[in-house]
Amino acid sequence: MDKSTNPIGLFDSGIGGTSIWKEIHRLLPNEDTVYLADSKNAPYGPRSKDEIIDLSFKNTDYLLSKGSKIIVVACNTATTNAIEELRANYDVPFIGIEPAIKPAAIHTKTNAIGILATQGTLSSELFNKTVAGFTNVDVIEQVGTGLVTLIENGQLESEEMHELLEKYLHPMIAANIDYLVLGCSHYPYLVPQIRKIVPEHLTIIDSGEAVARQTKKILQKHGLLNTKEHNAFQEFYTNANPAVLQNIIGTEYSAIKTDF
Ligand code: DGL
Repeated sequence: MDKSTNPIGLFDSGIGGTSIWKEIHRLLPNEDTVYLADSKNAPYGPRSKDEIIDLSFKNTDYLLSKGSKIIVVACNTATTNAIEELRANYDVPFIGIEPAIKPAAIHTKTNAIGILATQGTLSSELFNKTVAGFTNVDVIEQVGTGLVTLIENGQLESEEMHELLEKYLHPMIAANIDYLVLGCSHYPYLVPQIRKIVPEHLTIIDSGEAVARQTKKILQKHGLLNTKEHNAFQEFYTNANPAVLQNIIGTEYSAIKTDF
């Protein structure tokens, strides 16, 4: 059966994965998409690997019930803890998202890079395997405890957010990093706040564009690119307060509350 006109499904522990959705929609405007924010269960970061796997399976089932032809795991924590199990248990292709350590490690001039991510990502086997490949570079790791919860509560610009970011970033600045890797799909929304703290020459990178390119490549490979001219739809579901998701996607789209 030709599934090329079916939607792309994306999930995250909450609203952060919309930063990935934006890049995918920019590159593939002709594709329908269904986004699921599992905000009721956020944050995933402090959860056990087994819990993250269970939640990732539930999210995948939901997106498949909406006809998704491919699943984008728009969450570093879910990718680094569950992508192997997802691929082993479902027929549909999966795109994962991992912290962009490689470009930072290749381009750094100070030989020191910072990575801000969740506990779940930084302690995962997948992440540690990647870091072990770059022995010539100092990788300053920092768990962003509390950041996802503040973002999910709509407190992007709060004083509390600023204080947490200062606490997390100052040791990295002192270690002379010239690249900061945002290893959580929520964090691109913090760039304006981060910019107020870090030196101007510091480069901030995330994985959004790379994930969008990879999604296109895999869709092509499986003959799943939607080539039919149509008005593409973009659906956004959340199992928590829709106002927070609505605020981040803007008025062009509607955040739909789901009982999932
Ligand atoms: N957006 C998720 C990620 O990329 C946040 C994880 C969490 O909920 O702690 O890791």
